[in-house]
Amino acid sequence: MRKPDKRHVIAHISDLHCGHPHFVAEMLETAIAEVNELQPDIVVVSGDLTGFGFLPDYEMAREYVDKIECQHVVTIPGNHDARNVGYLHFEDLFGPRNRVLHVDGVSVVAVDSSEPDLNEGCVGRGRYGWIRKQFAHPAELRVFVLHHHLVPIPRTGRERSMVTDSGDVLELLTECGVDIVLSGHKHVPYAWQLEEMFVVNAGTVSTTRLRGRVKPSYNIIEFTPDQVTIDQKIPGGGRERVISFDPSSREYRKYISEASGWAPPVENVSVVDQSGAGFGTAGGQGVVDAVRAAESSGDETDS
Ligand SMILES: [Fe+2]
Ligand SMILES: [Fe+2]
Repeated sequence: MRKPDKRHVIAHISDLHCGHPHFVAEMLETAIAEVNELQPDIVVVSGDLTGFGFLPDYEMAREYVDKIECQHVVTIPGNHDARNVGYLHFEDLFGPRNRVLHVDGVSVVAVDSSEPDLNEGCVGRGRYGWIRKQFAHPAELRVFVLHHHLVPIPRTGRERSMVTDSGDVLELLTECGVDIVLSGHKHVPYAWQLEEMFVVNAGTVSTTRLRGRVKPSYNIIEFTPDQVTIDQKIPGGGRERVISFDPSSREYRKYISEASGWAPPVENVSVVDQSGAGFGTAGGQGVVDAVRAAESSGDETDS
């Protein structure tokens, strides 16, 4: 990463879910007003614009995204947007599902990781050469965007949200010198460092589809010669650091907050020691049944 000449600000919002019963319009209106006040250089909208991929959902999402006062808004679809052949409405109302932006030393390459009517995602080998070519462009900051996860995110429940080719994509992005990966999907803000790369997830900006103690939020990324900071901002509420790093040395500091639900899990176990009882004999089938029930309920366990 070359040192930037000036401060860059990227606002990262995700999982609007317009039209979903848990969508809260006031939250999105507040978040957009805050983003406009911030005057970001780039706004990234990393998918799940809609609840179900229906045209009225898309029309509502288009109206909100139009309220964002920024010359460079990069928008991609998520798994909810690809439902019910909704990706056609995406193309009609938002344009191409894969986007590239080179502006002021920042490269943003954003891909559609969704598959019609599936919650799982994939980048796909067919796009690797194209991604490599886009990142060959000279840049101070290289950002890759997709809706699904590239690495597991803590406190999102059973892991099934990574793209099916996550290992190959991670290696590709590392080779390309990508600095930051932005994603959404499970509505839990978090950040990992992986080799030289920072993998950053955003929460849901405007729904009450929340896991555990997490609150609705969006991310603010500030990039200066000496430091890159990533904060989560609750619409109408507080702003809290997620991670910061030195763009040259890659030394980083991660911030853990109990208020935002990031405290490590505490021991929550009752132990009865009955010699010879064996592990899992009591309750094992209950766990299996619960997982099966979650699977059959489908929609509510996915984001
Ligand atoms: Fe999603
Ligand atoms: Fe979502």
